[in-house]
Amino acid sequence: MTTPHFQNYSGQSVLMVNDKPFIGLAAECHNSSASSSAYMSKIVWPRVCALNINTLLTPIYWEVVEPKKGQFDFSSVKDLILSAQSNHVKLVLLWFGLWKNGRSDYVPEWLKQNSSTQYAQQRSGKHLYSISPADRRTVDYDVKAFGKFMAYLKQIDADDSTVIMVQVENEVGLLTSDFNYSIDKESVLRTSLPTGLSEGRSETLLSQFGSQAGEYYMAWLYASAIERIAFEGKKHYSLPLYVNSWLEKPLGQPGTYPTGGPTARMLKFWKKVAVSIDLVAPDLYVPNFKEVCDEFSAPQSTLLIPETRQDLQTVSNLIYGISHYNLCLFSPFGAEDFFSKDVISDSRLLNAISIDADAFDWHQTGPVLAQTYSLLSGLVPLLVQKRQLPQMHSFRIAQPADRGRRVKLSNCEVIVHFSKQAENNSPSAGFILELTPEEFIFCGVNIRIELEALNQEKSIGLLKLEEGRMKDGEWHTGRVLNGDERVNIEINAIPKLLKIKTHVY
Ligand code: DGJ
Repeated sequence: MTTPHFQNYSGQSVLMVNDKPFIGLAAECHNSSASSSAYMSKIVWPRVCALNINTLLTPIYWEVVEPKKGQFDFSSVKDLILSAQSNHVKLVLLWFGLWKNGRSDYVPEWLKQNSSTQYAQQRSGKHLYSISPADRRTVDYDVKAFGKFMAYLKQIDADDSTVIMVQVENEVGLLTSDFNYSIDKESVLRTSLPTGLSEGRSETLLSQFGSQAGEYYMAWLYASAIERIAFEGKKHYSLPLYVNSWLEKPLGQPGTYPTGGPTARMLKFWKKVAVSIDLVAPDLYVPNFKEVCDEFSAPQSTLLIPETRQDLQTVSNLIYGISHYNLCLFSPFGAEDFFSKDVISDSRLLNAISIDADAFDWHQTGPVLAQTYSLLSGLVPLLVQKRQLPQMHSFRIAQPADRGRRVKLSNCEVIVHFSKQAENNSPSAGFILELTPEEFIFCGVNIRIELEALNQEKSIGLLKLEEGRMKDGEWHTGRVLNGDERVNIEINAIPKLLKIKTHVY
């Protein structure tokens, strides 16, 4: 079997796992969960399996795998792989190495205390708890550790492909400062970047990027360091690698988001430097889901959402995202929260990481998300084949006054009615997938449809209206809806699949 990889499949780039097209119906566990295998087996695995995920995203900590310089202990990695296999779930491993959310908290003790480790500085000269990406010697330690980690993955997992992708570091960049002032900013901005990155040979960073020159220089430093780490990793095991992005907020200055990180604005530049990185992925907690997906998917061949909201909006985003974009993975954050009774959201934490509290309201999401994942899992092969074709029609309510869409199919016109948006409910979203001119699948949440004939003198009748699900390429019928259940073609708060066959009379 081949190593997981992206492949051109029916004209689009698709993640192949065990030689089949794959979409990660995923969740990411909390940052500290994987530091205890007892916690994982008692708390995390039972709860995440109840979500019907096919992939778990979980960190691997540099401080744990290299507790002493040059001495590696990958038992935590092995435990994760074995548990994932027994739960029939794939893994995406997040390398918490030199940088996690703009800081260097996960660096092993021996390196934090090494007197030659260089920390970044604010304009005032104060050190930040973030190792400078210009400190080549320290980056080299991460290069080596990441290479060992990837080599270990190959040795233990290449035959099974339990681990399907690796995230290199986490939301890199420098927080609370617009530049690393341990570097002489004035003089560096009067130099040029290596050939290929500067347009003309005599061009300086300042003449090329103007007021954004400092941020581009920081992006170049981080992307170059990540490139060295990723290149070493791929040399040992060529799994798909990606970086995740802390999004730039409207009106925000560098430093309110990690300066030099792979934001949408820096994306093309980052990819020119970090060529061993397959994808730049948005951590998507903001309400403008579509806008962010458009920004990140337009310049890339596939879209990966490694962290996203916990509230019911996530269900609507998932239904829309998986049918509209070339999405390879969707992963709400805080996987073990969804079926818990004891988690309290921490407003001071949310403030520090600038995420709105409603994005972390998981209280009603678990069962709805679990049902959605279960329905979508059987649809994956069909979605991969059809979602970029004219037979696929996706919709999601854009703002509260948005009442719906008209969708023209081969045999009829569908009037899609969005429900009035209410708090504590998933915003209306759905898709129609035409199977033949007379037959289509309708999936959605909080949505109703009516059918009209294309020719005004005719009418549309129903030959079939069935609930059901797809499995192994076949439709499995549940209830056949008729009588009272046929008056309205409607899906309420719990997503469903309906198969509809029409005729003209
Ligand atoms: C974004 C980070 O990438 C995650 O690791 C986590 O800290 C979440 N924010 C929020 O808790």
